[in-house]
Amino acid sequence: MKILVVGKGGREHALIKTLHSSPSKPDLFCFPGSDSIFEIAGQTDATDLPTLIDWMVGEEVDLCIAGEESYLVKGEGLANLCAVNNIPCWGPNKNAAQLEASKNFAKEFMFRHDIPTGHSQLAHSYDQALAAINGQYPTVLKFDGLAAGKGVAVCPDADSAQAFLSEIFEEKRFGEGSLLVEEYLEGPEISIFAAVSGSQCFVFTPARDYKLIGEGDVGANTGGMGSVAGRKILDPELMEEIQEKIISTTITGMEQDNFSYRGFLYFGLMLTKDGPKVIEYNCRFGDPECQAVMPLVSGDFAKFCMGGAQGKLDSSLLEFSEDWSVCVILASHNYPAGSRSGDVIFGLDKLSDSTQLFHAGTRKNSAGEWETSGGRVLAVVAQGETRIEAVENAHKEASKITFDGAQRRTDIGILNF
Ligand code: AMP
Ligand code: GLY
Repeated sequence: MKILVVGKGGREHALIKTLHSSPSKPDLFCFPGSDSIFEIAGQTDATDLPTLIDWMVGEEVDLCIAGEESYLVKGEGLANLCAVNNIPCWGPNKNAAQLEASKNFAKEFMFRHDIPTGHSQLAHSYDQALAAINGQYPTVLKFDGLAAGKGVAVCPDADSAQAFLSEIFEEKRFGEGSLLVEEYLEGPEISIFAAVSGSQCFVFTPARDYKLIGEGDVGANTGGMGSVAGRKILDPELMEEIQEKIISTTITGMEQDNFSYRGFLYFGLMLTKDGPKVIEYNCRFGDPECQAVMPLVSGDFAKFCMGGAQGKLDSSLLEFSEDWSVCVILASHNYPAGSRSGDVIFGLDKLSDSTQLFHAGTRKNSAGEWETSGGRVLAVVAQGETRIEAVENAHKEASKITFDGAQRRTDIGILNF
């Protein structure tokens, strides 16, 4: 079985390592990939979506897996083009992928199908937005379009809201577009991942991520500084409520709207005092949650994804450990404000055999050493029978790796419990 994975980060490295250890022993390829991924997956000669499709057709690829979301909505859409060329794709079509690409599309979907979420109003101008906020702070403002993760502002007061409204409507920082003014929801966040194939759905181990750069959840938003995963992160009654009120209603809603969804669906939830509510959908696995969840998965992940892409989800192909798993990110100097490359990484050979290492922003230099290539650099992941054990293992292992300017939070898996 030939499988092509789309993406290049730590999430894709984790997905590819899990595919690599599948008993069906697939031939793996990755686009655009990275030096570390290319140690276990082949390269393509593609440069964009059309040439990638040509490459897959030429190589008779059996399955395309969308690790990251961007190609799902680019051009005619990765999954749509795969369908035209009879290549099974584990990732949704362009219409369904709007659940992630358009905040307003997702909200309208949730309202239509009675899926618990915060109330919201769409605004097309600065004044409309201000009227929708109606003096209620904190408020949440979301640009309705692709904004490279920078389109959401949680505003505690009028000054911060007006500053963001100016960026959107006056400076047009993200180009033309409208804005959702959303109710501020309070509570711990949780990430739920489901493999979805039409009306079939199978939920993976839930996780929590840590988005802010600083210890104690302070400072700038990042792509994620770590994560913790474990079945016991949610008590069974709450998981049942999420299954019933959110996951099932979403699957039924997608069926009613003829989405033909195939792929991972990520529910970003806020556990409010009025029950769990959806903050957002993503049409992919979370990063860095994937890096914590994947080491808990055994069985034939490759066959599982292939089945899902062909409309037959077979959860008996997989087994999930009851352990906890903690992922600690090492980020480059000055991230996320800036990003430095070229710092040589030391200590990779000191990790214990039971630790998993996933590369996000690394490359091999001319001397054959691993060095940073900016942003988030590495994910160090370890497990334990208890959360505390997993925390201790992951942090001990992460501390063995050093490079100039490395940033690492020491409260991953500890804070918010
Ligand atoms: P999003 O891009 O929609 O995931 O939003 C980014 C982050 O903003 C989320 O992970 C939350 O921490 C926060 N956020 C988004 N929507 C809300 C909301 N309605 N209430 C409170 N915080 C929110
Ligand atoms: N963990 C956040 C994300 O993947 O968007």
